[in-house]
Amino acid sequence: MTTQKHGGYDFVVVSNRLPVDRVIAPNGDASWQHSPGGLVTALEPVMRATDGAWVGWTGQPDLEFDPFVSDGIRIVPVALSPDDVENYYEGFSNDTLWPLYHDVIAPPSYHREWWESYVAVNQRFADAAIAVAAQGAVVWVQDYQLQLVPKMLRTARPDLTIGFFNHIPFPPYGIYSQLPWRTQIIDGLLGADVIGFQRVADAANFSRAARRLLGYVTKYPYIEVPGEGTAETPARRVLAKAFPISIDSSAFEELARKPEIQARAKEIRAGLGNPKIVMLGVDRLDYTKGIGHRLKAFGELLEEGRLNVQDVTLVQVANPSRERVAAYMQLRDEIELTVGRINGDFGTMSHQAISYHHHGYPRDEMVALYLAADVMLVTALRDGMNLVAKEYVASRFDNDGVLVLSEFTGASDELRRSLRINPHDIDGLKDAIVQATEMPLVERQRRMRSMRKLVLRNDVARWSAEFLAALRSAGADNSGEPVEPVEEEDPLGELEWTIERIRHR
Ligand code: G6P
Repeated sequence: MTTQKHGGYDFVVVSNRLPVDRVIAPNGDASWQHSPGGLVTALEPVMRATDGAWVGWTGQPDLEFDPFVSDGIRIVPVALSPDDVENYYEGFSNDTLWPLYHDVIAPPSYHREWWESYVAVNQRFADAAIAVAAQGAVVWVQDYQLQLVPKMLRTARPDLTIGFFNHIPFPPYGIYSQLPWRTQIIDGLLGADVIGFQRVADAANFSRAARRLLGYVTKYPYIEVPGEGTAETPARRVLAKAFPISIDSSAFEELARKPEIQARAKEIRAGLGNPKIVMLGVDRLDYTKGIGHRLKAFGELLEEGRLNVQDVTLVQVANPSRERVAAYMQLRDEIELTVGRINGDFGTMSHQAISYHHHGYPRDEMVALYLAADVMLVTALRDGMNLVAKEYVASRFDNDGVLVLSEFTGASDELRRSLRINPHDIDGLKDAIVQATEMPLVERQRRMRSMRKLVLRNDVARWSAEFLAALRSAGADNSGEPVEPVEEEDPLGELEWTIERIRHR
């Protein structure tokens, strides 16, 4: 680790979490470890390839550090006080925006002091980015925790080219309009030159909100933001469209091809008592993931004798998450009660129905698990993308394995050869699980081959290259020259959305 100069970076990523975690060893030694998770996995390769800086929170309250370099990435820490963590992170980000943006699966809480903290902390992230960004730099802001940062950057630094990517869904207007600060958030996001979403439907929802709340003219994929009559605030055309995120697919395949990982996969199966079928669920312990629905379906199948505990084991990895937020505490209690009941009712001395793990695993172990799993269950009730589904596919170089995938994930727009399910339809889910366990090898291979082609081609390098290319051309377009206005939205606008959606099927 070396200390670096401040300022002068041409490419700056801003995200709530840094790609590193502060870890204290049992002997008291502290070090920075690269943290797992979708966002980090997605952006790490891009950061290594560019000479950029990454602005974000250290992940713990009151942890202040000067900028440093870790594993080839320049890190610019932003400190959050315990109050910031409670109000900005746990409160507004994860108890207001998170449930609201996931179709109110859990009820969002609206508190004015949370909002005030969100504004203040967003300004702190913006200020940190402003301090390190070179003249004319590209700044790429990530996710729902920082939706006000684009406008804050633009106000202070009109020279910057600003991108924003929303990793989670953007809800339909009927839901979004509940938010007391709905207009400020749209205005904040529209400070960006390019706003990326996971699905076309998310971009359409955002565009509609901009139209309804600010009266802006929209025509896919553009939103016309009028100027304020000064040279510093010219009219701009913002690009708001889908850029479905992906994973470092070949890295997963390479790991899966290693003999030691394959040996570990065999060992995992042996440890489970060598059942005929191993099923796998891997999720952050979050109410959006439909873990309860999955367990209900699995429990009923055991009860009805359609699955037998001698033949089938479900491995459920539930990564601890946001553990101080009440809805997450309650979810953990519910899930663990259900797991205990199912194991108590159906387990035998030699076979457990569910092998439950309330912790994360390193990537090597995850890939071994993916190889060990005949059936992967992704039953999210709403999910921006779901990278686990893509990781499973990328790891299965043997073209085997069946992916059961909720149609409410962004991934299901692309992975059309999965067994697509509606997790609310428990009978349908049960049928799909049984179908997965009985699927002939030829069909498994046909489906997996086709999904693999897609995941290996559309990897995270391509995702970021496409986003950054759009950002570069938007930056050139928004160089201060007046823009030709686009036509007013006409009744045929909806048709365009529909066509776009169909093209993505
Ligand atoms: C989702 C979000 C990310 C977030 C991650 C983990 O994937 O889109 O922004 O970092 O969950 O959640 P956490 O609250 O632990 O950062």
